[in-house]
Amino acid sequence: MQTDKIRNFCIIAHIDHGKSTLADRMLEYTGTITDRKMQEQVLDKMDLERERGITIKAQAVTIEYQGYELNLIDTPGHVDFAYEVSRSLAACEGALLVIDAAQGVEAQTMANIYLALEHDLEIIPVINKIDLPSANPQRVKEQLLDIGIDPDEAILASAKKGTNIDQILDAIVNRVPAPYNGSKNPLKSLIFDTLYDSYQGVIAYVRIMEGSVKKGDKILLMSNQKSYEVDEVGIFAPAMQKKDELSSGEVGYIISGIKDVRNCRVGDTITLKKNPAEKALPGYQKVQPMVFSGLYPTDNSDYEVLKEALEKLQLNDASFTFEPETSEALGFGFRCGFLGLLHMEVIQERLEREYDLDLVITAPSVEYQIIKKSGEELRIENPAAFPEQGEIDKIKEPFVTAEIHLPEEYVGQAMELCQDNRGDFKDMQYIDQDRVTLKYEMPLSEIITDFFNQLKSKTRGYATLDYELEGYKESKLVKLDILVNKDVVDALSTIVHDEHSYQEGNALVRRLKDVIPRHMFKVPIQAAVGGKIIARVNIPAMRKNVLQKCYGGDISRKRKLLEKQKEGKKRMKQVGSVEIPQEAFMTVLERD
Ligand code: GTP
Repeated sequence: MQTDKIRNFCIIAHIDHGKSTLADRMLEYTGTITDRKMQEQVLDKMDLERERGITIKAQAVTIEYQGYELNLIDTPGHVDFAYEVSRSLAACEGALLVIDAAQGVEAQTMANIYLALEHDLEIIPVINKIDLPSANPQRVKEQLLDIGIDPDEAILASAKKGTNIDQILDAIVNRVPAPYNGSKNPLKSLIFDTLYDSYQGVIAYVRIMEGSVKKGDKILLMSNQKSYEVDEVGIFAPAMQKKDELSSGEVGYIISGIKDVRNCRVGDTITLKKNPAEKALPGYQKVQPMVFSGLYPTDNSDYEVLKEALEKLQLNDASFTFEPETSEALGFGFRCGFLGLLHMEVIQERLEREYDLDLVITAPSVEYQIIKKSGEELRIENPAAFPEQGEIDKIKEPFVTAEIHLPEEYVGQAMELCQDNRGDFKDMQYIDQDRVTLKYEMPLSEIITDFFNQLKSKTRGYATLDYELEGYKESKLVKLDILVNKDVVDALSTIVHDEHSYQEGNALVRRLKDVIPRHMFKVPIQAAVGGKIIARVNIPAMRKNVLQKCYGGDISRKRKLLEKQKEGKKRMKQVGSVEIPQEAFMTVLERD
């Protein structure tokens, strides 16, 4: 295909503003998908995605429209997958910016606009959901003007009703620039996603930036210098469709017998071995997990099954890591690393659903840098593995810049919450008359606890949160141990700020008292720092006529997840003589 007939674009939107629905309509309108029984939202392929209504994996589809080849690259809609989003945007020349006509500009809208501008994309604003009675396109136009986007360029649409889809397609053809024609240059192909297929190996989703590639070519991955022979190239239409060649400007896939996704990383450049490009495409990063937790089978005999399941999941997900770990309390399990909390929940749910595993998951932790008095430096993401307090000279922890977008009336509550979570105020900006963006520097560990839930509840659901890792900084941190029936339960240890240790120790033992069932004997629960007991409660012995303890208390997101577990399966872990339920390991995260 000649480059002047190609348009590469993505759709960016705040969550729920209608990105997937709009993609569906465009596919239907252009006849890319004719099957009447088309599953809703074809671009979100995984079940989990559909259920949660979020897009996790970037996907691509080629649409034919009036002699043009329009390549739509779908982007993941969550902060955990920000790097994948950035690579998808790097594969495009234009972006449809979808804004809900009733909700207006939101945090992710802004974050996405900045990203699109950074990648020099032509932005086509689409004001969606104009069919809603509460739609207020005029207000959205004013907001667009406020953020420097020409409101006259906006297309009013309803993805649900299929209104003005033709105008959107025309705008893509007329306003998105054609890709650069570098067909004579050595191959430079950007990997923006990968998929593992047990039959074909790794399928690399690529945008050819320069040159061309065909079956039989010897390719070279520029970050690791590994070389493979191409078995097949093609496009997504939306099913995989073989082609003789992919050339400059096009979007499609390359299959070349790569067996491990870790050898074919998002962001890497594929070139030809014989005539390699001089320089790789800019922006390659090896993504690192930021959040870690222990995964243990409730039934120890499931260890091997869990190991195999983790290996299989990793085939498809290079950003997820695991290694064996033992806990005195929980036995044999794995320490797993994730990009963020959503990523962790997705993996956890897949393990339980697809592999029918019953798991105990410990509270997530970040990775700490510890400098010992001896000068030795350690990186530790398991609180249980912390050195003795007396041996530690300094502890550094990861900090993020958090951006909270919310209606002005909740600013007070949100600021208070940030301060309670060791937030350092940086900036406040008005997006329009009644919407504000707050910027705070905060420890990542505070964000991955109950912060988001609390923010939502304090702002009646209106606030949104985005964060970006800034780096490591020294903090006064201590390890808080929990003793159940006088024994330290290593899997319940957490790292807390020195100044908050009493308060958190007290709160935690009280919460544990609520979730650990009564036993035939009295069970003391204690909190300790550096061997010194700082809080204690007792779970009284069971009276004979008490049949069952109900686990009361508020229903957090974590607990809802737990409730989904199958009937009859009670996730209890025998620790010494005491049975501890799974939810105890998560109460560590909650805040009073
Ligand atoms: P994520 O994938 O989670 O980022 O969401 P999304 O932006 O893809 O939104 P999605 O397409 O899933 O739409 C969210 C909700 O809005 C769904 O319930 C859609 O049916 C609804 N919706 C989308 N477009 C329209 C529209 O034009 N009008 C109305 N009334 N509802 C719409």
